Amino acid sequence: MDFRIGLIHGDGIGPEIVDEAVKVLDAVAEKYGHHFQYSNLLLGGASIDATGLPLTDDTVREAKTCDAILMGSIGGDAKTSPWYKLEPSKRPEAGLLGIRHALGLFANLRPAHLYRELRDACPLRDDIIGEDGFDLIIVRELTGGLYFGKRETKEVDGVLTATDSLSYNENEIRRIAKRAFEIAMKRRKKVTEVDKANVLDSSRLWRKITAEVAAEYPEITYENMLVDNCAMQLVRDPKQFDVILTENMFGDILSDEASMTAGSIGMLPSASLNETSFGLYEPTHGSAPDIAGQNIANPIATVLSAAMMLRYSLNLDTEADDVEAAVQKVLTDGYRTPDIWSEGTKKVSESEMGDLLKANI
Ligand code: IPM
Ligand code: MG
Repeated sequence: MDFRIGLIHGDGIGPEIVDEAVKVLDAVAEKYGHHFQYSNLLLGGASIDATGLPLTDDTVREAKTCDAILMGSIGGDAKTSPWYKLEPSKRPEAGLLGIRHALGLFANLRPAHLYRELRDACPLRDDIIGEDGFDLIIVRELTGGLYFGKRETKEVDGVLTATDSLSYNENEIRRIAKRAFEIAMKRRKKVTEVDKANVLDSSRLWRKITAEVAAEYPEITYENMLVDNCAMQLVRDPKQFDVILTENMFGDILSDEASMTAGSIGMLPSASLNETSFGLYEPTHGSAPDIAGQNIANPIATVLSAAMMLRYSLNLDTEADDVEAAVQKVLTDGYRTPDIWSEGTKKVSESEMGDLLKANI
C-alpha cells in the first residue's frame, strides 16, 4: 500500500534518530511491499533557523496531507542556544505545542514497559519489579489545561506577577477518557484516573466526568488517585498500573518518571492522536543536545514510535509486531547503546543499533 509519512527531524539528536527509524521503515516497506513516501517538515529550532518561526503554516498544511508524522525531537540547550533569547512564543517548544493544537492531537499515549533484558538498567529493586516486570501506559490529555490556558506576566501594584490558568471543559475530559477506556479494553482492563481533586476544581470535574465514562465500561476496574500519591506509587509498585489517565501537566511529569523506571528514557515511544487515525509519533525523550552528533544516542524509542505509527495510523499490525519483535530480538541478543549498557552486554553505536534493527525485520 502507499502511505505518505511526514518526517520532522527537528533538533539535537532528532535528525539522527529519525534517520535510524527510517532505515527500519524502509526495511518494512520492502518486506511487505508497501511504498512510504516521505515528506520533510520543519519544526522547532530547525524551523526557526530556516524561517524565523518555530512552526509555519506551510508545515501545518503539509502535515495535513500526510497519513501520519514521525518526529525526532525539538529544542536545544536553554543556556547556550540563541533560540532561547527569543520571546517564549517564538521558541522551539512553542512550535511543538502549536502543531499539537493545530492538528487537534488531544490524546497522548505513553507506554512504559520494562523489558526483561533491561532489568539491570532499571533503578528499582528486584522485588519491586517482580518476576514479569511491568507494563503500563499513560494516557495524557495534550491540548488543554495549563499548557493552553491564558498566561500573562504583569505588574500588579508594583509587583511583577505571573499567571497561568488551568481550565478544562467536560467535552475535553470525556473524549480523552473514552480513549483511555477503549485502550484499557484491549489491555488488562484497569483505568487509574490521576488528579489533584483535594485541591483543584478542574480535578473535581475530571473525577465527575471520568466516573460517568467509567459507567459505560462495567468490565473495567476504575479508580482515582491523587497525583502526588501516583508519583510515589510509580516507584513503590508500578505493577499495580495498567492505564493511567490524566491531564496535560500531570501527564508530562509522570511520564518522565515512568520512563526512567523502564530502564532508560531512550526506550519509550509515544503517540499523539486526533479524533481520526491521524497521529504524530515521537520518542518520549527530548533532543539531548549534549550527545548530538556523536553516534551514541539510543534510536529505539523512535523506532518503537514508528511501530506505534504503523499500528495506530497506518493500520499495519503485522508490520508493527515485526518492528517490536526486532527490538526484542536485538535486546535478547545482548546489543545495547551506551545508555542501557551494562557489564556482560555488547555496546553498539546508534547507527549500529539501527542496522541491527533493520537486519531483524
Ligand atoms: C513532552 C515535552 C513537552 C511537553 C515540552 C517540550 C513542551 O516535555 O512532550 O513531554 O511538556 O509536553
Ligand atoms: Mg515532557
